[in-house]
Amino acid sequence: MPNRKKIALIGAGNIGGELAMQAARKELGDVVLLDIPDKEGVAKGKALDMMQACALEGFDANILGTSNYDDIEGADVVIVTAGVPRKPGMSRDDLLSINLKIMRSVAGNVKDKAPDALVIVISNPLDAMVYEMKKVTGFPRERVVGMAGALDSARFECFLADEAGVSVKDVSALVLGGHGDTMVPCLSYTTIKGVPATKVIDKDKLDAMVQRTAKGGGEIVGLMGTSAYVAPASGAISMAESYLRGQRRMIACAAFLEGEYGYKDIYMGVPILIGPAGMEKVVEIELSDGEKSMLETSAAAVRDLIEAAAKL
Ligand code: NAI
Ligand code: 2OP
Repeated sequence: MPNRKKIALIGAGNIGGELAMQAARKELGDVVLLDIPDKEGVAKGKALDMMQACALEGFDANILGTSNYDDIEGADVVIVTAGVPRKPGMSRDDLLSINLKIMRSVAGNVKDKAPDALVIVISNPLDAMVYEMKKVTGFPRERVVGMAGALDSARFECFLADEAGVSVKDVSALVLGGHGDTMVPCLSYTTIKGVPATKVIDKDKLDAMVQRTAKGGGEIVGLMGTSAYVAPASGAISMAESYLRGQRRMIACAAFLEGEYGYKDIYMGVPILIGPAGMEKVVEIELSDGEKSMLETSAAAVRDLIEAAAKL
């Protein structure tokens, strides 16, 4: 079908499958679901199953399962989930050495076959993986972003709505920093229909929700034995949709910083505008002294990971 956008998903596991279905349901474009040759059958089987769901539900999208990078040629958006997820007791950082090798090989192929795409990295440890993607592809920072802040902010919003007994539609939260236990939920920008959450919810309850958000990924790993995959897919699809449909949404994402917030040569979660030009702007907001200090701690953790990656 001419004129449809092309969305390439590298990794056809739990998040990859969910991404494909969400992209199809939103009719964002045609989808290519790629995995390693050993898992080509899984990619093809999932693609077929989802095409049949599209026929049932009435969505126009072709979904192709493959292990051949030629099939992602000319993709408008590439979303990378290739790698291994956490098992109970593992931190995201434990995944560094295995996922780094995978990311290097994926990035080389993306550079060759989809040189004009917006690349959204999801694989963990997120901030180091997206840094590697930019390093290997050499793409400008406008076209390489990481998905984490959207998910972490949504987790916080979900807990806040539940606690306050209000619709989640009226809750707005911003979680910045690295995608790890040092992430920074910004209470000064957390509101319920514009009213600061600090005026509606007791401090001890807010503190508990901040802690739960920071450990939100681990909570789900503990329950399911593997990582969350529905909300992570929703986070990346909101970013891809904002780009493909020119929405210019402000979303917390891992962006390559060039001096913003006082940081350089690092990927970290900050509010950005995503529009037709990709990551169009890093939005600089005023942070409290406490938030600045938490961001500093988070940046130090990300730097450690990037330095460890450089030695591998
Ligand atoms: P999964 O194990 O279900 O899927 C990963 C897929 O990647 C597998 O099918 C595997 O065969 C494939 N793969 C491995 N090497 C590959 C290669 N060289 N090329 C192409 N595909 C390759 O894992 P799941 O649950 O989909 O998670 C994917 C990643 O996303 C994990 O690293 C996980 O930690 C991370 N994650 C990140 C989140 C975030 O907020 N940034 C949230 C949740 C998970
Ligand atoms: C998550 O936050 C483990 O990064 C993964 O769900």
